[in-house]
Amino acid sequence: MTRTVTVVGGGTVGLTVARALAVRGSAVTVVDPQPGSGASWVAGGMIAPYSEAWPGEEELFRLGVESLRLWEGFARDLQPFADGPLITSRGTVHLAVDDGDAAELETIAAAVGDPAQFCPLRPSAAARAVPGAAPRIRAAASAPAELAVDNRLLHRALRAACTTAGVTFRAEAVAGADALHDLPGDAVIVCAGADSATLAPEVGVRPVKGEVVRLRRGATCLPPPEVTVRARVRGRQVYVVPRADGVVVGATQYENDHDLGVRIGPVAELLDDAFTVLPFLREYEFVEVTAGLRPTTAGNVPVIAPLRGRVFAATGHGRNGLLLAPVTGLRAADMVLQQEVQAWS
Ligand code: GLY
Repeated sequence: MTRTVTVVGGGTVGLTVARALAVRGSAVTVVDPQPGSGASWVAGGMIAPYSEAWPGEEELFRLGVESLRLWEGFARDLQPFADGPLITSRGTVHLAVDDGDAAELETIAAAVGDPAQFCPLRPSAAARAVPGAAPRIRAAASAPAELAVDNRLLHRALRAACTTAGVTFRAEAVAGADALHDLPGDAVIVCAGADSATLAPEVGVRPVKGEVVRLRRGATCLPPPEVTVRARVRGRQVYVVPRADGVVVGATQYENDHDLGVRIGPVAELLDDAFTVLPFLREYEFVEVTAGLRPTTAGNVPVIAPLRGRVFAATGHGRNGLLLAPVTGLRAADMVLQQEVQAWS
């Protein structure tokens, strides 16, 4: 039995797959010129399958719910490798500013279909859950089982856990789909985020650019909310994800844009929307704006599948890379090891 595996891509998904294989006995190498510098670095860190539910996306929803169930154990395993708490908050509160925004909450509730997981909240209860929220809230909802994690601590912890499990790292770029065949191993798994578009064109990944803003709490400011706050403000979505020392505000969304430059107009609107629902954030310190590329497939569902010969894919996680990392690690490891059993029997 094998087991040498090359994982192409050292983001959160790639490292989760690498570690899942290493702890099951494979000799794993991760190839990435700068592990964790892509979407894993930019991410807000929402582990939020209910809040992301939408009619027509049932497969993604089921996968997300399965992965959320794995998340507590995943975080517990990685916490000893982290330099701070990986889970930064529990629960999501949605705030809607006008009637159209309120109708969207009803659409999400219908897509979830379980009032225990996505339930209406009276505006007065929302105001208690989110101290400092603006008074003009038309409707609210709660997703109590969702989590938020610190994406950057998570990536560092994953890297340390991989090293402890014997994973080795090669700081190299892979030049294109043909170059995959030159990589060593019984299996090669493409987990390369937006770069999967060129490395595995058959998967059909396209980049969906997003910008997020990081803000730090000043000494005299209200503390960050204790829950993730998602809002719909005049038809636009904004989220505010708590961190130990501030918040992450996200996110813009542009189709098929490869340029990682920051567009100031849409970022200004994003902040304006965040200030509409949480006015106290105006007093926070600006830290940074970062742009990343969500590796998105046509159906918004990741592809975890054999491609050709010994090449596999575990990519195309779109808006949900952090949420879907644990289930992807399990499924990708099963897929590669199962293939191996078939080849040897
Ligand atoms: N995960 C949320 C986003 O992609 O903006």
